Amino acid sequence: MPRKIIIDTDPGVDDTMAIFFALCSPELEVAGLTTIFGNVHTELATTNALRLLEIAGRTDIPVAAGAADALTGPFEGPVPFVHGADGQGDINLPEPAGTALDISAAQFIVEQLRAHPGEITLAPIGPLTNIALALRLEPRITEWVDEVVLMGGNALAPGNASPAGEANIRNDPEAADLVFGADWPVTMVGLDVTLRVQMTPADIAEYERHGNPMSDHILHILPHYRRYFEASYDSKGIFVHDSSAIAYILDPSLFTLRRWPIRVGVQGLGRGKTWPATGGHILPPWEGRPAVNVCVDVEGERAVALMQQRLREA
Ligand code: BDR
Ligand code: CA
Repeated sequence: MPRKIIIDTDPGVDDTMAIFFALCSPELEVAGLTTIFGNVHTELATTNALRLLEIAGRTDIPVAAGAADALTGPFEGPVPFVHGADGQGDINLPEPAGTALDISAAQFIVEQLRAHPGEITLAPIGPLTNIALALRLEPRITEWVDEVVLMGGNALAPGNASPAGEANIRNDPEAADLVFGADWPVTMVGLDVTLRVQMTPADIAEYERHGNPMSDHILHILPHYRRYFEASYDSKGIFVHDSSAIAYILDPSLFTLRRWPIRVGVQGLGRGKTWPATGGHILPPWEGRPAVNVCVDVEGERAVALMQQRLREA
């Protein structure tokens, strides 16, 4: 039986790649997409989620719109220089025909986990606000979830949204601290590994040979994203952040893990930094916090090969 996942997402170029990667993986059943601000505002993230499901021919999958702002303050704004003003590389897609459910992302997550206890993996690849709201709405989801595998954070690597923080965590550190502190199995697929999952220009050219609507769409939206990596990292290729979380769900053997409790910086320069307690003696404010799986190394080329294989065989 395929494993059910709910992808909480802010699409987003790399979110798009991750959603298509999951949809093309027979081991997974995508039970829904829930949307969040981050790369774009939540309203546009919802529109994009609906569009992506239409491109994939999977309008049977429900979409639930999430929070418009972080737990303790307004969303600080999208990143058009990374993902385009439309979150899809500025290609101006037509409006989707479908609409989102009339329940919130948090309600959808709670309903699905209640209906399928032990069966659903949450895969957040944006800020963690919806997941924190779901925890507040129904704390028993910690018992019902199979696993939480999130793209976000930086344990030992520097941040990307600031020198301290990774973008998803930096967009709602208070929510992230709740998610890392809850008593449920969490795996953090952060910059420590996603900066080592790189698609080269040759890997990207592979999509030209697939000849399916999902690969064609990825090819269409990548040029804008590639310009960002060229300008910011002097790289002709891209880092594949969000798909790395899907790769972990499919094949954890690609990754090396450490188990550490995590606190999230919520103030000042350190806002958005995920701080692991790596020492032997755990002191407050880490004391009493559950250890989470932190991905610290990855076989990047093998992960990229898996991503390519799934789209090629779509
Ligand atoms: C994360 O931030 C977003 O820009 C990407 O979609 C990814 O989820 C990487 O830091
Ligand atoms: Ca994302």
